[in-house]
Amino acid sequence: MIGLGIESTAHTFGIGIIDSSGRIMANERAVFTTDEGEGGMIPAEVAEHHTNVFREVIDNALSKAGISLDDIDLVSYSQSPGIGNCLRVGAMLARTIAATYEKPIIGVNHCIAHLEIGKLLSDAKDPVFLYASGANTQVIAYDGGRYRVFGETLDIGVGNFLDAFARHIGIGFPGGPKLYKLSLSAKNLIELPYVVKGMDVSFGGLLTNLKQKYSSGRYSKEDLAFSMQETAFAMLVEVSERALAHCGKKDLLLGGGVASSLRLQEMCRTMCRERGAECFTLPTEVNVDNGLMIAWLGLLEYKAGKRMSIKEADIKPYLRTDQVEVFW
Ligand code: FE2
Repeated sequence: MIGLGIESTAHTFGIGIIDSSGRIMANERAVFTTDEGEGGMIPAEVAEHHTNVFREVIDNALSKAGISLDDIDLVSYSQSPGIGNCLRVGAMLARTIAATYEKPIIGVNHCIAHLEIGKLLSDAKDPVFLYASGANTQVIAYDGGRYRVFGETLDIGVGNFLDAFARHIGIGFPGGPKLYKLSLSAKNLIELPYVVKGMDVSFGGLLTNLKQKYSSGRYSKEDLAFSMQETAFAMLVEVSERALAHCGKKDLLLGGGVASSLRLQEMCRTMCRERGAECFTLPTEVNVDNGLMIAWLGLLEYKAGKRMSIKEADIKPYLRTDQVEVFW
């Protein structure tokens, strides 16, 4: 069975093709980027981007896979959570393909898709999942029929936090890799607000503090980049470790764009080693938002009996990870 997945929750429009044995056939994407200002994405502009690139991305994916839309057995799309305007582009395309080619359709949860593709492509079994991306920062683990959120950001995602500061100091977008590069020539660790509340984290105050320190002119960009990484990632590691301890799980799986950070990976590996757990990381092309994970989760759900009519194939911008019943 061949599944085609459409990802369009935020800045990435992606098409992935995979078969039910887990054989990857294509994973193509186009990413909306902007260097202007500190704000980031205007929903209507990102949706416009997706509308403009979808044809090229889908053609590339089909030609990589060496198939046509007729050969597909299931079309899946990211139904939740995300930016409404962007989700709508993916859902419309999925509906159009399903109706035109008479294919079954399934809408899936984006965060759970990150987790399931991670389980497919690593040896992690029943892991605690640290999902660290631009918009999302959650610690997720399976418990009692659902993927529970054990901890999460109370304000912005860790990726948006890194990007916002990188833009503020004028080193561009995406911020994570650029800050990492700067951090390698740092000389001092600067003390910054460390905000862990129970199992949750918060980056807003830390961002304000960093901006104030930068404006004061008393700290180098390198030291600030290094210190913000050490502080923010330590917060994520602490919450992940507590989730491992609470759930009695032995595997930590990292996913989301920020999970490609070599420093975050290193800190997680150190924590896991010290407590006799194992840390699993994924290739960048599946850490970032992608259609492949959407196609894979769609296949899992379809094989377990889920069916959806074209009419039911709507979007759920605010649906949370722990509202999805895991029946596959
Ligand atoms: Fe994501």
